[in-house]
Amino acid sequence: MVNIDPGFIRSQFPAFREPSLADFAYFENAGGTYACAPVVERLAEHYRRLKLQAYYPSQPSQEAGARMDAGRARLAAWLNVSPDELQLGPSTSQNTYVLAQAFRQWLRPGDEVVVTDQDHEANIGAWRRLEAAGLTIKTWKIDPGSGELNPATLAPLLTERTRVVAFTHCSNLIATVNPVREVIDLTHAAGALAIVDGVGHAPHALPNLGELGADVYLFSLYKVFGPHLGAMYVRRALLEQLPNQGHFFNEGKPNAQLVPAGPDHAQVAAVNGVIDYLESVARHHGLAGQSPALMARGVSALFQEREAHLMAPLLDFLRHRRGVRLLGRHRTEGRAPTFAFTCAGLAPWALAQQLASANIGIGAGNFYAWRLLEALGIDPDVGVARVSLVHYTSEQEVARVIEALERYLP
Ligand SMILES: Cc1ncc(COP(=O)(O)O)c(C=O)c1O
Repeated sequence: MVNIDPGFIRSQFPAFREPSLADFAYFENAGGTYACAPVVERLAEHYRRLKLQAYYPSQPSQEAGARMDAGRARLAAWLNVSPDELQLGPSTSQNTYVLAQAFRQWLRPGDEVVVTDQDHEANIGAWRRLEAAGLTIKTWKIDPGSGELNPATLAPLLTERTRVVAFTHCSNLIATVNPVREVIDLTHAAGALAIVDGVGHAPHALPNLGELGADVYLFSLYKVFGPHLGAMYVRRALLEQLPNQGHFFNEGKPNAQLVPAGPDHAQVAAVNGVIDYLESVARHHGLAGQSPALMARGVSALFQEREAHLMAPLLDFLRHRRGVRLLGRHRTEGRAPTFAFTCAGLAPWALAQQLASANIGIGAGNFYAWRLLEALGIDPDVGVARVSLVHYTSEQEVARVIEALERYLP
């Protein structure tokens, strides 16, 4: 196994060369990552040179369209799916909202949908609204002690009327990587469709969707070093059955059916930048020359190994610190480097303010995982503090956040 080269990685992110951010340590990566250099460059170039209507016969128009098509196709290849199966909408919340409208027309009263209370609201609320159309919504509940989802408690909820199970690959607060394959298999065995929110997982490992088996898989590119877009894979056989949500004359055009807003041209073209970055990581670490899916696996392994190393001291600090209630597992295996916690005697927002005074950025609040916090007995109006890192975080930054937490936690 090759070790990641942290110097190379950080050289690919303009934020680390930006004078105004020189002393800033960023730890709200689960909310949104820095953009890699190729994304920034491609966005700027598109706005400078190609910000015109795409797909007409003129050369610049053709070039703009070709860049958009390439962005979708290259991302699809890294996910091991067909470009027709990949929708690029404004955000994951918007994508689930539109998808749920399609399901509203497609499903029948009495059909059943299972949601969890661990998910971000983006993959709960849109489905719960279908109750008004006569669907039955059931909740697959977390274990209130660990906050984790146990597949054994899903099985009794599945009936011959179950049509959909919507769940998260990795919660944005619990951070356990759920046994996604096992849940998909259970769902399929019941004759239902698996809709997986991969937003919390994709920054750490891009999935091989051709192999995973999910019917729908969603993630947000602005958390994967890219532009502010939501990527949504919908299996072709399902896409062909879902009622068109775009203009009526776009019926049958796979990439127009579930993105009625129309694509954001510059951002779709800038998706190329994410792939440029991942390819350069693969090349730099001797992983090039394989299929995109194999490069994706290799790069993800590099990222995850680095993250496991970086998160260990932070996890160790938080789990031993008096007064801290750390959500999720207290070990690095099977978890993302996202740490949500409460602390007796100090409100999360006040802690975030204190860290901000030390030029460290963390998050505080409910992170739209409202129902999860309620199920854990935490007031969503107060919420939790969240410290999250990715592979580009440095050891020095981790040491700094631990030192600051040591100073400010009561
Ligand atoms: C786990 C998870 N799912 C879904 C979303 C919603 O994504 P978007 O902001 O693209 O709507 C978020 C956003 O923070 C998230 O963390």
